[in-house]
Amino acid sequence: MSAQKLHIDSYERGWMIFSAFLLVAFAVAVSVAAFGMGIQVPAPEQRVDPRTVATDPNSPWSNPGLREVAPGKYDAYILARAVPLWEYLPKELTVPAGSSVSFYVTSSDVQHGFKIQDTNANFMVLPGQVSKLTVKFDKPGAYNFICTEYCGSGHGIMYGAIIVTP
Ligand code: CUA
Repeated sequence: MSAQKLHIDSYERGWMIFSAFLLVAFAVAVSVAAFGMGIQVPAPEQRVDPRTVATDPNSPWSNPGLREVAPGKYDAYILARAVPLWEYLPKELTVPAGSSVSFYVTSSDVQHGFKIQDTNANFMVLPGQVSKLTVKFDKPGAYNFICTEYCGSGHGIMYGAIIVTP
C-alpha cells in the first residue's frame, strides 16, 4: 500500500502557517505581559465577613485608610458601601509622587466596583472578599476613582480621589 500524500492548497497552507504563528505570538505576548511587565488579573486576596468587616476592631476596615509600610510604600484599606450611604471610606487619600500603593478593597453590603482614572486599576469589589491591586503613582495630580458596578440608586455618587502631591 503506498502512502497517500494529502494535498493542501498553497493558499490554505499559507493561512495555516499564519494561524500557527498567531498562536505563538499571542502566547508570547501574554507571557511577557504577565511575567515581564507584571500585568496580573486581580485575584481575591482574602475572605472576610461582610457583616463585621467594618465594625470588628481587629479588621483594618474598621479604621480604613492609608498605612505606610515602608518608605514610599503604602497599604490602602478602602471600604465600599451602599448603607447608610453610597460611599467609599475614606473618600480621599493623599500620597507623595513616586508612591506605590497596594489597595485592599472590600464591601460591607452589595457588589461594587473600583476603577482609578489614568491607571490600569479596575476591579470588582465583592462582599466577603478582598480585592487587591498595587499601583505606582509617578505623576502628581488628582486620580479620581469611581464605582463601576451598578449598586443601587446612589451608584452615581460613589466616587473618591487619590491626591498625588509633588
Ligand atoms: Cu457602588 Cu456602584
